[in-house]
Amino acid sequence: RIVYLNGEYLPEDKAKVSIFDRGFVMGDAVYEVTAVVGRKLLDFAGHEARLTRSLGEIGIENPFAEGELLAIHRELLARNDIEDGGIYLQVSRGNPGDRDFVFPDPAVVKPTVVLYTQSKPGVLQSESALHGVRVISVPELRWHRRDIKTVQLLYPSMAKMMAKKAHVDDAWFVEDGFVTEGSSNNVYIVKDGVIITRPLSTDILHGITRAALLRYVAETQIAVEERPFTIAEAQAADESFLTSASSFVTPVVEVDGVAVGTGKPGPIAQRLREIYIEEAL
Ligand code: PDD
Repeated sequence: RIVYLNGEYLPEDKAKVSIFDRGFVMGDAVYEVTAVVGRKLLDFAGHEARLTRSLGEIGIENPFAEGELLAIHRELLARNDIEDGGIYLQVSRGNPGDRDFVFPDPAVVKPTVVLYTQSKPGVLQSESALHGVRVISVPELRWHRRDIKTVQLLYPSMAKMMAKKAHVDDAWFVEDGFVTEGSSNNVYIVKDGVIITRPLSTDILHGITRAALLRYVAETQIAVEERPFTIAEAQAADESFLTSASSFVTPVVEVDGVAVGTGKPGPIAQRLREIYIEEAL
């Protein structure tokens, strides 16, 4: 694989980052994942805009010139044999000195920029898409700025491990009795034909797939209610699904051991998946 590191395209084993890098030592970095389907980037502009926002929120100057980021994504696609999958991008505050909690002076910061492709052949025809996924709920223990896409993913990883141990596919975070989001996705229920999903705030990541889906849904007859919902509501819902760049729209068929609706992917989730893939491509 050819990867991108700070302006250079290198074989992956030649791409080296300092052990003092603040991304490594402090989790002082933000990231994006853009899906690739049939060598095409999905919703690149949305991911670029959110990256700009995340960088702004943590005070790292955007290192990319106009159009540069898209050019890097395209170059990586050209240099790697990838049909379906994604491009991972990370920008950290770099390393101008020794370990210090205080941010280095912006004048001396040189962010570390890393991008690489991840190949996932046949990503559109996944098992999860076909049969839906099962989830458990776990306490929401992340920090309160979940709108910033930081690489601080220890707890989401632990939540995935809890799901794995429980022999299910994913975990939903619950705070004050309400679902915030999934470990790496935004979540939805459908009740009496209405899609219910948590409104945007600092409680959740502002999913690019979520935004696109809601735009497409606005052109249909399907109603959307943006409000938080509980696990009990999800268990009593007609359908449920989740969205992310890596999973598109994926049906959720079981929540904490209780089947949602028929226990099979629901018609609205399946239709939305089709609409999303068609529109986004
Ligand atoms: N995860 N919420 C969380 C906590 C996420 O990590 C993600 C994305 C989403 C969905 O956002 P989007 O639609 O923009 O992908 C919601 C990515 C895919 C990941 O960490 O791999």
